[in-house]
Amino acid sequence: MKKLFIKTYGCQMNVYDSARIADLLTPLGYAAADAPDDADIVVLNTCHIREKAAEKVYSELGRLRRLKEERAEQGGRMLIAVAGCVAQAEGEEIARRQNAVDIVVGPQALHRLPEMIARVERSEGRVLETDFVPDEKFDALPAARADGPAAFLTVQEGCDKFCTFCVVPYTRGAEFSRPVAQIEAEAHRLVEHGVREITLLGQNVNAYCGAGPEGNSWSLARLLHRLAEIEGLERLRYTTSHPRDMNDDLIAAHRDLQKLMPYLHLPVQSGSDRVLEAMNRRHARDHYLRLVDKIRAARSDIALSSDFIVGFPGETDTDFEQTMALVREVKYPQAFSFKYSTRPGTPAAAARKQVPEQAKSERLQALQSLLAEQQADFAKSCEGLSMPVLFEKPGRKTGQAVGRSPYLQPVHVDDAEHLIGEIHDVTITRAMRNSLSGALTAVRPKGMAAA
Ligand code: 5AD
Ligand code: SF4
Repeated sequence: MKKLFIKTYGCQMNVYDSARIADLLTPLGYAAADAPDDADIVVLNTCHIREKAAEKVYSELGRLRRLKEERAEQGGRMLIAVAGCVAQAEGEEIARRQNAVDIVVGPQALHRLPEMIARVERSEGRVLETDFVPDEKFDALPAARADGPAAFLTVQEGCDKFCTFCVVPYTRGAEFSRPVAQIEAEAHRLVEHGVREITLLGQNVNAYCGAGPEGNSWSLARLLHRLAEIEGLERLRYTTSHPRDMNDDLIAAHRDLQKLMPYLHLPVQSGSDRVLEAMNRRHARDHYLRLVDKIRAARSDIALSSDFIVGFPGETDTDFEQTMALVREVKYPQAFSFKYSTRPGTPAAAARKQVPEQAKSERLQALQSLLAEQQADFAKSCEGLSMPVLFEKPGRKTGQAVGRSPYLQPVHVDDAEHLIGEIHDVTITRAMRNSLSGALTAVRPKGMAAA
């Protein structure tokens, strides 16, 4: 049996794509390898969003090259493939910088991987495919396999927003929504294989506008309503949303759909209108704050999350203070924050007023300590509450299981390993830095009165 090792960088869509790569190669006789050392083919599924992420790929390729040479000395063969957004953005450069690479495949061409491997095996030399063919891709991919009770399902790819800092419109291409029937079929299949929670993925998931059964276009809200009818599917989530596409029907779905979990990742990036404008975000600070109010009116316990960029070109101390003030006003149970990273080819990269590294570091530190405080406050407020947890996998301790709260926090529970795949009420006993501990909520025997 041949062995496959996939290393995934970056976002959840890459996690989904890596699973699809495994699904594609399994019928060709590839089983999962535990490490690149035992693999016949190593795939790096890469991320181009910030410079650091892209640089990691080149250092990993250096290590793989040595493994490949050792293998060759022993008379064996190892293929190296680079997939994902670095492959799309820098395919030619990868080929130039690292001649150990056999295959470069962009995210929209990954369904062609089996044929590309066959070509390399026939010794046709290096193959490179970076076409944008998302509709062909989804038709060509095999049915997704379930791996545990929580699954990702890509419903939308690409982005037409062109924020001035972001590479996504260039690496993932234009917005594309999969048809409703295709998504429904994939969801049904996942549920038949034990999946209880599905997270719908898209770079701009709430801009979803896939074709419905009658050919008319469906919104994300309508899709969620349809998927919520699937028996056995207990939880729905979606990510990532753009504030511009957060329509009233989607907000109402948070009020009306009990299966839609009370967690929403809604990146604002900055609290300053001047910076938002320079970022081409096409929403103002006030629009975002009003949205937050509306969403909380629909679902009061919703946990909001966001992405922030500090040190965007031209950002002043006053701009940054506005971001801090927005964070204080909204209060985020969870958030991600980054220093602005110059991405070649994006409009902001050419801006004259780049912020010095020192200022970026100071701002990031200030923002992250505020966010950490808010995250800790939220976690603390969960202590003593009972909440349904979907148990996903074994924990580090024997018998322990780790699951997710409705707010996406990891929850550790002892003596619960036998409950993996199921949802049970858990009383939260302790809030830690990035997770919660709890115990199964005692079920009162029937007929016994509450204290
Ligand atoms: N520099 C820093 N952060 C970035 N992001 C996207 N592009 C950049 C960049 N050039 C962040 C944004 C986005 C998240 C996925 O990554 O906050 O929402
Ligand atoms: Fe990038 Fe902006 Fe599109 Fe998000 S909305 S993927 S940040 S361009």
